[in-house]
Amino acid sequence: MHTRTCGELRAENVGEEVTLTGWVSRRRDHGGLIFCDLRDREGITQINFDPEHSDGDAFKIAETMRPEWPILVHGVVRDRGHDAVNPKLATGEIEVLVDHAQVLNRSKTPPFQIEDGIETAEDTRLRYRYLDLRRPEMAARLRLRSDFTFAIRSALHDRAFTEVETPALFKSTPEGARDFVVPSRLQPGNFYALPQSPQLLKQLLMVGGVERYYQVAKCFRDEDLRADRQPEFTQVDIEMSFVEQDDVMSQLEDVLSDAFARVGVEMPTPLRRISYWDAMDTYGSDKPDTRYGMELVDLTDVFASSAFKVFASAANTQGHVVKAINAKGAGTWPRAQIDKLAKVAATFGAKGLAWIAFREDGSMNSPIVKFFTDEEMDELRRRCDVEPGDLVMFAAGPRRESDEILGGMRSHMADALNVPREGHDFLWVVDFPLFHWDEDGQRYEAEHQPFTLPHLDELHLLDEDPLKMGSCTYDFVMDGFEAGGGGMRIHDAELQLKMLEFMGFTEERARAQFGFLMEALEFGAPPMGGFALGLDRVCMLLAGTDSIRDVMAFPKTSSGSDLMSAAPSKVSLAQLKEVGLRLE
Ligand code: AMO
Ligand code: AMP
Repeated sequence: MHTRTCGELRAENVGEEVTLTGWVSRRRDHGGLIFCDLRDREGITQINFDPEHSDGDAFKIAETMRPEWPILVHGVVRDRGHDAVNPKLATGEIEVLVDHAQVLNRSKTPPFQIEDGIETAEDTRLRYRYLDLRRPEMAARLRLRSDFTFAIRSALHDRAFTEVETPALFKSTPEGARDFVVPSRLQPGNFYALPQSPQLLKQLLMVGGVERYYQVAKCFRDEDLRADRQPEFTQVDIEMSFVEQDDVMSQLEDVLSDAFARVGVEMPTPLRRISYWDAMDTYGSDKPDTRYGMELVDLTDVFASSAFKVFASAANTQGHVVKAINAKGAGTWPRAQIDKLAKVAATFGAKGLAWIAFREDGSMNSPIVKFFTDEEMDELRRRCDVEPGDLVMFAAGPRRESDEILGGMRSHMADALNVPREGHDFLWVVDFPLFHWDEDGQRYEAEHQPFTLPHLDELHLLDEDPLKMGSCTYDFVMDGFEAGGGGMRIHDAELQLKMLEFMGFTEERARAQFGFLMEALEFGAPPMGGFALGLDRVCMLLAGTDSIRDVMAFPKTSSGSDLMSAAPSKVSLAQLKEVGLRLE
C-alpha cells in the first residue's frame, strides 16, 4: 500500500510524492493546521494536514482521527524549516504535506500510551501484548532477536551444520525439571511429554551419522519461574561427532564470535576458561560476572585461634571456612542500611552476617572487631586490601554454603553500589562435578545430566569419593548469566548403564526410560559432544534488559499464565473423555 516507510525520509527526499501507512501516534490541532506523528515499525514521520492542500476529505479525516487508528496518506515531502526541525527524530528535518488520506480502521482508546519509557504495570502490557509490541523499544527487541537468530543460523550453516527438526511430542524422560505431559487420544492412559531439550534426540542423530547438527529448538520445563526462566524457551541446540572436548569448544567459540560479530558485538577468542571449583572459590558463583573484582578472600587460617567463637569454630572444622568480600564504598553507609544486609544474606542461606565498616575518619564500626587481636586485624586489612570507606562482610561455615552466600552478596553489592559493568563479559566455566548429593531422594544426581561423560581418569572415584568426580562439561557465561551449557556424552552403552545404575536406576527402570538410547549406543555410536545456547537469555543481555520476557513476543507470568488468552484454562468434559482423563 505504501511507497515509503515512516523511518526513511530525509532532507534529500524533499519534493518527492510519497504514500505512507501507519498508526496515528500524536495528533496536534493548531487551529486550521493539524500535525500528526505517523508511526510504523521503522519509525515516525510528521504528517501535516492543511485544508488548502487537502483533496477535500483529508482534512476532515484529520479532524476525526484518534490515536492508534491505522491510516494511509499521500502527499509531498517538504522541508520543516530551520526552527521546526526535531533533532530527536531521524526524520526530524522533513514532514509530509498530505493531500489525500484514508482511514483503514478505527481503534478503541488504548489502555496505555504506545511509546517508550512508559510506567505501565507489566500485567497490563501482557494483557494487551499486541499493543505493547507496537512500542518502538519492543519492536526493536524483536528485531534484535530475529537478527541474532539469523546470525547464528548463518554462522552454523556456513560451517556445514545441518538444521534438523526433532519432535515436540516425545517420551517422558525427566532430565532435572518436571515434564509437561500430553495425553494420547489414540492410546488412552499413555502420554507424550514435551521435550525439556532435544538432548536424547540429538545424540540419536549422531548415531544416525548427522555429524554436525543444530536446531533452534523450543524447550519445555515445568519449573518455578524467575526473570531468566520461562516454562517454554528457545535453545540453539548443537551437537558434533568424532570430536574431543577442545574441538567442540573451539568450534563453538568460532560460531559464537561470528554470530555476535554479525550483530555488532565483539567476542574476543579464545575465551577465558575457569574451572567450576575456581569459580566457586573466587567468585562464589558458577556463573561469575568478571567485569568487576570484589573477589572472595579466604581468611580461615587467620582466625584459627580467634576469640570470636563463630570464626574459630569454622576455622577448626574440616571442610569449613571463614571467607570475606570487601565492598568498596559501602563502609560509609549508615548502620541501619548495613544491618539490612543480613536479611539479604539470609536469602542466600546465611545464618548471620558479620561485618566491619571502615569509616572515612579511620574509625571502625562493627559488632565483632572487639574480639580481634591487632595481628588478626592487620592480616585482614592486608588480605582484603582495606581502605577507608570499605565494608568487609564475612561468612563462616561449610565451604560451598559460605561461597554461595558471599557470591550472592557480591552481586547484590555490585548492584547496590552501581559498580560499573561496561561491555559484555564472556567466559567458559568448565569441569563441573559429575554428581551432587540429593538429600530428598537420598541418591547421587547428575549435576548436568545423566548422559555426561565423566573424567575417565577419575572413574575409580566412583567407589571412593563420587562427589570429587569431575565431568567433561562447559557452561558459557555471559555478563554473570548462564547463557549456555554443554558437554561431552557417554557413547559407550555399558558405561551409560553403569552411570544410570550408580544414580539409583535399576537396570529395568534404566531400560524402560532410556532403553532406546542405550540400544542405539550399541550400534557404533561415535564420540560426541555438544552444547545449547539459551537464546532468550543471550537476547536479553544483548538488548540490555533484565528479563527474558522483554525479548519474547508472548511470555508467561511467574505463575505460568498467558494474560492475553487466559491460558492455562479449563477444557470441556468431552475433551477430557476423548483423551481418557477424568478430574478428581
Ligand atoms: P541446559 O539445561 O543447561 O542444557 O540448558 C541450556 C541453556 O538453556 C537456557 N535455559 C533456559 N532459558 C530460559 N528459561 C528456562 N527455563 C531455561 N532453562 C535453561 C540456559 C541454559 O544454559 N541438553 C543440554 C545442553 C547440552 O548439554 O547440549 C541442556 O538443555 O541459558
Ligand atoms: P553472634 O555472636 O552469634 O551474635 O554473632 C555476631 C555477628 O556474627 C553477627 O553479626 C552475626 O550476624 C554474625 N554471624 C553469626 N554467624 C555467622 C556466620 N556463620 N558467618 C558469618 N557471620 C556470622
